[in-house]
Amino acid sequence: ISGGSMDYSKYIRNLKDYPKEGIIFRDITTLLKDKDAFKGAIDELVALAPKNVDKVVGVEARGFIVGAPMAFHMGAGFVPVRKPGKLPYKKIEVSYELEYGTDKIEIHEDAISSGEKVIIVDDLLATGGTSKATIDLVERLGGKVEALVFLVELTDLPGREVLKGYDVRSLIKY
Ligand code: PRP
Ligand code: MG
Repeated sequence: ISGGSMDYSKYIRNLKDYPKEGIIFRDITTLLKDKDAFKGAIDELVALAPKNVDKVVGVEARGFIVGAPMAFHMGAGFVPVRKPGKLPYKKIEVSYELEYGTDKIEIHEDAISSGEKVIIVDDLLATGGTSKATIDLVERLGGKVEALVFLVELTDLPGREVLKGYDVRSLIKY
């Protein structure tokens, strides 16, 4: 499995009315468990990403699964953005809106040096809230966001609009 012509959407499990009525949940575990689809999708994402990147930033939890193998392939460092209370060293945090209430994510303050070229990776772009918050963290550390790379993009949600001005790239679009 390689080359841009492969349709990876056939490896995604679509769950109707999960976690609630009217939502179709795009389950990536069926892609991840298939050795050819997993390797092929990561290779494609690496090909989609800009070159000469210093750091790949992945967002807990599913962003780790996609981001770490990409960083490995690209010869870049990997930086975890984590849910509150998980990072042991000095960190900065940002709050972002959820459908009900807010959530927080954190990054180590020495994770990125000023001027470094960064890509932000996650499994899925929906409302863009998680990614926008991650951009905020990276830019406060002086990182330059070269692109945001997603395995799956939900195009009926305003994610791309929320990330206007940034280079948004995705492998599978719904
Ligand atoms: C999911 C998904 C993305 C985010 C996308 O993560 O993995 O990170 O939502 O949504 P958004 O574009 O509307 O912000 P979730 O917070 O459910 O947690 P997980 O990755 O830990 O499973
Ligand atoms: Mg996530």
